[in-house]
Amino acid sequence: MTAPILRKLDDLREMTNGWRMSGESIGVVPTMGALHDGHLSLVAAAKKTCNRVIVTIFVNPKQFNNPEDLKNYPRTEEEDARKLERFTVDALWVPDGDQMYPDGFATTVSVAGLTDVMDGAYRPGHFDGVATVVTKLFTQTSASDAFFGEKDFQQLLVVRRMAADLDLPITVHGCPTIRDIDGLALSSRNLLLSDRARTLAPRLFEELEGIAEGLSKGEAVTTLQEKAKDRLLKTGFTEIDYIDLRAQSDLSLVEDTSKPARLFAAAYLAGVRLIDNIAV
Ligand code: PAF
Repeated sequence: MTAPILRKLDDLREMTNGWRMSGESIGVVPTMGALHDGHLSLVAAAKKTCNRVIVTIFVNPKQFNNPEDLKNYPRTEEEDARKLERFTVDALWVPDGDQMYPDGFATTVSVAGLTDVMDGAYRPGHFDGVATVVTKLFTQTSASDAFFGEKDFQQLLVVRRMAADLDLPITVHGCPTIRDIDGLALSSRNLLLSDRARTLAPRLFEELEGIAEGLSKGEAVTTLQEKAKDRLLKTGFTEIDYIDLRAQSDLSLVEDTSKPARLFAAAYLAGVRLIDNIAV
């Protein structure tokens, strides 16, 4: 069933007020569109957990530190709506730009600490943009539950911190990364890869798995990281922002897996920035 597409805040509020008054839980799945099976797994989780489900589609200019990246970001609204039909979601919130950032908009939500490293360091302003728009999406939709993919693990932690610090009455659920059959983590950006780059892209995940295996045999993380970086560069990746082993709780750097940790990577392939992470 096709969900109503709402573009004005008044229409969204009218709809959610009714649901809230009848005590229904509302799940929100925030997206920037170009939906893939990773997003759809979040929608499925929301449908299981909540009475009502809203999928949001908004390509948020405030989280792009590179204007070319914003310009090239895939926009596929009609196809997205079609992909959601089988889930019978209750609404698509596709706000007009002025509904999100009206003239005079002057507020930024900024989460300290967690955003100093990895994508926070390599993409200045990115997480301020994410935290600001997600705060707005949470309040606009009056959601009780929100669903985010672990592929953007740093984003998940930042959103959880923000929701806790601002006392937002919402539960933030992290859902497993969905991968293509060859291991590549699903991402809207994969649409930007050439055929050749697409065949090479799974190497990032393979290297993370290789490092995890090395760690399990007691090899030193620094040696494993350097070898993985070398191999990726030889394969055709052009720039590696990071391959890091970090604590799952606070993203501090660690050298072993004595506490829950994750391997994180970000690298460029044919001009497309890919990120991935795995638990070790
Ligand atoms: O993960 C994304 O697609 C975006 O960062 C989000 C959470 C929808 C905020 O714009």
